[in-house]
Amino acid sequence: MKAVTRKKYGGIEVLRIIDIPKPETKENEVLVKVYCTTVNRTDCGILTGKPFLIRFFTGLFKPSSLVSGTDFAGEVVGIGNKVSSFKIGDRVWGLNDEGLASQAEFMVIKEKKAIVLIPNNIPYNEAVACAEGAHYAFNFINKVKLKKEHKILINGATGAIGSAALQLIKSQGIKVTAVGNTKNIELIKSLGADKIYNYEKEDFTEIDDEKYDFILDAVGKSSFGACKKLLAPKGIYISSELGPGAENLYLPLITKLKGGKRVIFPIPSNCTRTLNSMNALLEQNKFKSVIDKEYDMKDIAKAYEYVMTGEKTGNVVINFKI
Ligand SMILES: NC(=O)c1ccc[n+]([C@@H]2O[C@H](COP(=O)([O-])OP(=O)(O)OC[C@H]3O[C@@H](n4cnc5c(N)ncnc54)[C@H](OP(=O)(O)O)[C@@H]3O)[C@@H](O)[C@H]2O)c1
Repeated sequence: MKAVTRKKYGGIEVLRIIDIPKPETKENEVLVKVYCTTVNRTDCGILTGKPFLIRFFTGLFKPSSLVSGTDFAGEVVGIGNKVSSFKIGDRVWGLNDEGLASQAEFMVIKEKKAIVLIPNNIPYNEAVACAEGAHYAFNFINKVKLKKEHKILINGATGAIGSAALQLIKSQGIKVTAVGNTKNIELIKSLGADKIYNYEKEDFTEIDDEKYDFILDAVGKSSFGACKKLLAPKGIYISSELGPGAENLYLPLITKLKGGKRVIFPIPSNCTRTLNSMNALLEQNKFKSVIDKEYDMKDIAKAYEYVMTGEKTGNVVINFKI
């Protein structure tokens, strides 16, 4: 089978599409023919091995998996003899943010890992575009107790995480201020934002006079220091990035000890919970996949290059021939 591989950490020059043997299915595993995957910021982190912290999960000196990828949507084409939750022909999708060898024509995954059925009306590309960004968005949302009366600001509401967070929070009927760019103002409106700042024209930290219960920086371009004045007395700042000098790693402890406005930096967990929650929203038509570009597998290096610019809107999908 064709697979996207790399033997060391680096840029797109380390990527190779090569023929490797189709994986064998063990008794508790499912063999999936992959139709779609994404190239996301986690894939880029695993490709480059940066920030270094990521290597504790993906291999200290070189990637522990030859094949790249973190998410998939495809069809079950084989099952181990102890598998009971899936059958051949099932449409499935899944995610593992520590790496999944899913950028290949076939992949295996343990039945008990993060793999679920795709809702009937959802195509493969739309399903896979609800995985990685939504997982991190859920990760932030699940770490705090949101209430209808809360006010929330999302910086970077156009990214995979930000566009998912905006929709997930709006699905709970909560007011959201969103920060994005000129080309995506209509998109952000359509996803439900109540108030919008265009970061290309204005700096929300300078002009907004709201007091927020939560500020979620889904692009990591702000800081607790700059956003503090916009937080309510017990307001919480959450960023998807480590921040200047990796401050978002130690500020949670310092701000907790001090009391008042706080920083939290949730470590992502439980991909299966994300997939099940997303399925429920997709079935009720309460979540819209945001897809920026789609590439054929042969052009995957171009997709990595584009995602690494940090300028994608939502998700970048890779298609294998169906
Ligand atoms: N903590 C974790 O576990 C974790 C996991 C995955 C990703 N991340 C990090 O989270 C961040 C977001 O990931 P993602 O996949 O959602 O990113 P993404 O899809 O690349 O989106 C970033 C978005 O932010 C917009 N943007 C750029 N500069 C901005 C600014 N100054 N103000 C507001 N918006 C701005 C970009 O649009 P334009 O450039 O077109 O304006 C783009 O749409 C990345 O930094 C990534 O490394 C963290």
